[in-house]
Amino acid sequence: MQYTFRLMKSIKIVGTGRALPERMLTNFDLEKMVDTSNEWIVSRTGIRERRIADEKTATSDLVAEALLKACKQAGVKPAELDAIIVATSTPDTVYPATACWVQKRLGISGMPSFDVSAGCSGFLFALEIATNLIVAGTAKKVVVVGGEVMSKVVDWKDRSTCVLFGDGAGAAVVVPGDGHCGVLASNWGCDGNLAPLLYQPAGGTRLPTSEETFKEMAHTVHMQGDKVFKHAVRMMAGAALRAIQEAKLDVSDISLLIPHQANTRIMEATRTRLGIPREKMFVVVDKYGNISAATIPIALDEAREQGRIKDGDIVVMTAFGTGFTWAASVLRW
Ligand code: UT7
Repeated sequence: MQYTFRLMKSIKIVGTGRALPERMLTNFDLEKMVDTSNEWIVSRTGIRERRIADEKTATSDLVAEALLKACKQAGVKPAELDAIIVATSTPDTVYPATACWVQKRLGISGMPSFDVSAGCSGFLFALEIATNLIVAGTAKKVVVVGGEVMSKVVDWKDRSTCVLFGDGAGAAVVVPGDGHCGVLASNWGCDGNLAPLLYQPAGGTRLPTSEETFKEMAHTVHMQGDKVFKHAVRMMAGAALRAIQEAKLDVSDISLLIPHQANTRIMEATRTRLGIPREKMFVVVDKYGNISAATIPIALDEAREQGRIKDGDIVVMTAFGTGFTWAASVLRW
């Protein structure tokens, strides 16, 4: 096995945590809400149920809960963090950033706290930023959180989107590594020409909220699912392959693949293109649906909890999202 240690960015994830609302919405519940069936949803997406936040819960609430759990595991007090980076497409407010509301909720201040808007690739974008802050010596303890309340931006009458998404948050505390673990290689990018394939048209300066946008439900997810599907597989597999090659690894070196959990067909197609055996792919989409930027850190937390990741393991994470963005990270644990 060969590693390009010379190039490795030495960081360590010392704590992870997740927050999931208690309320569960099953495919059978959805059958009573829109013209769909459990069979259609499972065969097209692999999703069986998802968690839905209550009316009072905003993204920062879930982010704060996941952050606290990750900090507890890491033995780090939230007030000691050098930076808080929140990846989300469903912020509490247009401004300030959700990360600022998280500070308010936790009663802390001082450290730079900001959001990253890169859709479902957001957590890996945020991890890339955290890694570089640490390697540059700018920060020593950074928390990276992906959090979403997708249920408040979907049109619950649109069966082509409302069955896909869920709510939740996942967090990771990142610190300097000891030289034996870290990011072996990563790959990230964006093709903004594809932006209209998946976006929320209203609520920004292009189309401010009005009675008309409200009537047209233009403040909800608009997506051309079939086109998104094709780009998703190409981008997730492409980003992962480039990162694996840059790390000079063979596919057989990979211990665990954690792809963005959009749906099992996209994940399976990505895994097959990479040539990674099925048992090495970690899947939670059946339980939670697509939680955009939160899916990878939630899966990472569950994988750690289940003992699926040990020191020295090679973990590959890969994602695509609105933008279109893509990102992959090859970590030596
Ligand atoms: O993080 C990124 C977020 N986006 C995604 O992950 C979405 C990527 N796209 C996809 O996963 C797939 O395109 C879908 C799961 C959204 C749809 O699967 P598909 O294989 O593209 O659908 P299909 O071609 O087999 O079926 C489309 C049909 C349409 O009916 P007609 O026009 O063929 O009569 C839809 O109206 O399925 C209909 N349909 C549904 N039927 C039952 C759409 N949604 C539903 C539904 N239940 N929930």
